[in-house]
Amino acid sequence: MKHENHTQEELFWRIRLFDALSYPSVMISLDKTVVGANKKFYDVYNLTPEDILGKKCFHSFLYKDTPCNSDACPISRVITNKEGHSYTLKHQYKWEERVFSPIFDDKGDVAFVLSSIRDITRTKSLENQLIGVKEFITRVIYASASAIVAADRSGKIELMNSEAKELFGAYNGGEGTITRTEQLYPPGKAKEIMRMLRDEKIGGRGKLIIPRTTIVNAKGEEIEVEMSAAIIYDEHGNESATMAIYNDLKDKIKVEKELKMTQKQLAQSEKMASLGQLAAGVAHEINNPLTGVLFYASMLLERSDLDADAKEDLNYIVEDANRCKNIVKSLLVYSRSTDSNKRIIQINEIVEQSLKLIRDQKKFRNIQVRRYLSEEMMLINADTNKLNQVIINLVINAADAMHGTGKITLHTYKDKPHKKVFLEVKDTGEGIPRENLSKIFDPFFTTKEVGKSTGLGLSIVYGIIEEHGGRISVKETGTKGTTFIIEFPLYLPTEDGPHFCGPSVMQ
Ligand SMILES: Nc1ncnc2c1ncn2[C@@H]1O[C@H](COP(=O)(O)OP(=O)(O)OP(=O)(O)O)[C@@H](O)[C@H]1O
Ligand SMILES: [Mg+2]
Repeated sequence: MKHENHTQEELFWRIRLFDALSYPSVMISLDKTVVGANKKFYDVYNLTPEDILGKKCFHSFLYKDTPCNSDACPISRVITNKEGHSYTLKHQYKWEERVFSPIFDDKGDVAFVLSSIRDITRTKSLENQLIGVKEFITRVIYASASAIVAADRSGKIELMNSEAKELFGAYNGGEGTITRTEQLYPPGKAKEIMRMLRDEKIGGRGKLIIPRTTIVNAKGEEIEVEMSAAIIYDEHGNESATMAIYNDLKDKIKVEKELKMTQKQLAQSEKMASLGQLAAGVAHEINNPLTGVLFYASMLLERSDLDADAKEDLNYIVEDANRCKNIVKSLLVYSRSTDSNKRIIQINEIVEQSLKLIRDQKKFRNIQVRRYLSEEMMLINADTNKLNQVIINLVINAADAMHGTGKITLHTYKDKPHKKVFLEVKDTGEGIPRENLSKIFDPFFTTKEVGKSTGLGLSIVYGIIEEHGGRISVKETGTKGTTFIIEFPLYLPTEDGPHFCGPSVMQ
């Protein structure tokens, strides 16, 4: 009696439990007959027991007269496999998950199949939103103009956008493909970055911005970049990944370099301008007394009553006074106090002329002079005599730097889009020490024997090039030699008359 009470009580609870399920559920027998449904089912589908109990499931739910193909029937599947099975279904705006669970008898065979219907519309819409957000983030990452790399906790690279692949030269499956963060930096640097990222005092916890640092590409070449890195934490605050954004500084460095060069040139031309004024002043002041000295010394030399000693001394006076006169002349050229006689001329012609003038000098006996003169039309508006002086000065300096033996190369070419003509003078000499580079264009700067050289050569060259609206600089120098580069404005004849291009227009 007691046992029966318990059984009844349990049965009572089981029914209550079935009704308490929050999902609409139906119990189906092995022959596909609906044998029960819970309260939720009747409520949701607005049905009564008479509508469905004792009827076949395919009849009640699919409005069919015959059972479904057994392969497609989830109930058959649960009965055969003795395990649960589920699938999702999309109605117009709703998503449902249908869960079929076996109910076993005492012998362990499937006696019934419980079918529950779960509304998963909200979960599905969140899932779709998440997929949408993920796709959006992926698109943002791949559209970024910066290189982006993300790695897992162990340093294994999980993501590299196309910019990063280009920057690091890591094409999928290609030789030298980068797979780990350590490969992105010079040895030891990846660890150092992680240390800085974890240091709260540097950029805050898990964040780091390095305005200029070096990375290494797949070929082992070092590249200067601006970098910002971050540690990605999970919801518990544990490190789960790292990411870094890189911007190649190549273009920025180039612009900075150009700016520096322009500033240097500007400082140099300001210096030269004030020195030029000074030089012109001194030259004019000295010129008159010097003319007097030379005149009176020459007059004295004419006298017949001079003894040999006095004559020798007077000759020294005339010789040294002439030397001074030459210096004064050079100073006047440098300070641009001499007249200009410009005409439109092909630069190669001036180069040839200048070389003819030095051809027979002893200095060049063991020196090979090579010409790479572009055959293009490269017209400039120039004072031929002054440019001869420029080329001769540069070539003599080159010969001096090679101590008599070596190779001098003269190269002309043009950059039509930028309307410029270039002349390079290259030697295989000893090079210019770094500390002298800022002084070589200064008047009277020389490293050569005092008394033989005045140190006016390059300052005159500088003055002349400026007068032509051009620029001169040392392109490169080292133990293998030196290359000076001169840039002139290209003269372009136009249909509506002559037209000058470049930094200044000259007459
Ligand atoms: N091609 C070169 N290679 C190495 N050093 C050079 C070269 N050209 C110039 N220099 C250096 O620059 C200095 C200045 O040159 P600059 O032509 O003005 O004077 P200089 O040759 O010494 O004297 P000057 O030209 O008056 O006879 C030289 O003394 C030399 O140290
Ligand atoms: Mg010189």
